[in-house]
Amino acid sequence: MILFKKITDLRNWLESQRKNGKSIGFVPTMGALHPGHLSLIETSLNKAAVTVCSIFVNPTQFNDPADFSKYPVTIESDIELLEAAGTMALFLPDVKEIYPNGGPASKKYDLGYLETVLDGSSRPGHFQGVCTVVERLLEIVEPDHLMLGQKDYQQCLVITRLLELMGDTGKRIQIHICPTLREKSGLAMSSRNMRLNMADREKAALIHQCLLQIRNELEAGKLNNIKQKITAILISQGFRPDYVELANARNLTLTEVWDGKEELVALIAAFLSEVRLIDNMLIQKATE
Ligand code: PAF
Repeated sequence: MILFKKITDLRNWLESQRKNGKSIGFVPTMGALHPGHLSLIETSLNKAAVTVCSIFVNPTQFNDPADFSKYPVTIESDIELLEAAGTMALFLPDVKEIYPNGGPASKKYDLGYLETVLDGSSRPGHFQGVCTVVERLLEIVEPDHLMLGQKDYQQCLVITRLLELMGDTGKRIQIHICPTLREKSGLAMSSRNMRLNMADREKAALIHQCLLQIRNELEAGKLNNIKQKITAILISQGFRPDYVELANARNLTLTEVWDGKEELVALIAAFLSEVRLIDNMLIQKATE
């Protein structure tokens, strides 16, 4: 695996790959890699001739400075994992390389409704920061395939919107949304899990159990009762829920009354010992 710290070096290398007719797959990450990330690498290896991963803990997407300062950094083991997984190139820029003018341009991305709900409203500025860095990375790498994890469901929709906003450059990139990987307990794999102690890590599996319960108990009609019931369960077990929601799976319009047919996604965000955890589950309509 070749490690690039400078944009020009990476671009030159990518240019030579493209000249040889190689397609480029890109997996952007913030490091602290786990098997979920490696499954994105695997997808990329299947889709493209060359797989590039980036590790950049993007300061502009952290609305909470404490979350940024505590974000886990495990660069040495990340490099080993990427290498073993067959990644050809790692882009590991520093902040100045990505934001040479000291910070992101004041460009505002029109994310519309998507930015007003769920993590959009709970984490002001977060998705603008995600768009800033992802657009920058995509302009550098110019991939044919972009791998994203379903665990960050809203982020997947935001980046899909970003590609639309990027016009022809965006149209050339194919997004692949890869399923969430889980611990044996059901807990969605996440870099933030590293901040949980052993007991909390066990406890955190409740979020997935709650999503399963929503899926099992969901009935057409008003959804308020199930949302309240699940919120109460989380609170009773020491979580501080941010939201328990059901929304249209394609555009995230929150659903108050369900017709039993609309494809929904159930989404939960909850704090456990000051660590904010998110997870989601698609709810397919009953076919029989
Ligand atoms: O999901 C992440 O790890 C980040 O939000 C991303 C897409 C790498 C942008 O910094």
